[in-house]
Amino acid sequence: MSDAESTRQTGLNIKRRQFLNGIVWGLGSLIFGALSGSAGAYLLAGAGKEHREEWTDAGDLPELRPGVPQEITFEQSRVDGWKVRNEKASAWVVLDNNGSLAAFSPLCTHLGCAYQWSAQQKQFSCPCHGSKFSVTGAVISGPAARSLDRYPTKLEGSRVWLGPVQVSRASD
Ligand code: FES
Repeated sequence: MSDAESTRQTGLNIKRRQFLNGIVWGLGSLIFGALSGSAGAYLLAGAGKEHREEWTDAGDLPELRPGVPQEITFEQSRVDGWKVRNEKASAWVVLDNNGSLAAFSPLCTHLGCAYQWSAQQKQFSCPCHGSKFSVTGAVISGPAARSLDRYPTKLEGSRVWLGPVQVSRASD
């Protein structure tokens, strides 16, 4: 092979290698772009769900007499990362004298025990450490320092809908 032909052959080999390198890099970039776009969309969708405020259908409104709370149970969906689980939940619902509906989280605001309504004493009372709450959820006696946490409520026909629990502050 002459020097001129050898030089021409080397030049062709370099061009072919550059062409193949270009294809490999181009394909790699395409695949990386598609995968990272999908992963980003997946992550953003999951993150968005965690912060979504959802209402739960808590069933038919029971027959309520004003000022007499009743405990209701219902199924609630809980978003845990990217999993959605259905779990049993409950609330104490009560009508005030104006017909407004309030719904309290069933957990005592001291350390989270389940409290009960005492019809005789007309107050909620926690068996764990003795906290007492009024029918409006206010603390009558501690150790609990916060009012009962509430669910936002809305009525659609006879159905009660509850929003995410809103944590009370010490001064509520
Ligand atoms: S958990 Fe209710 S008083 Fe302590």
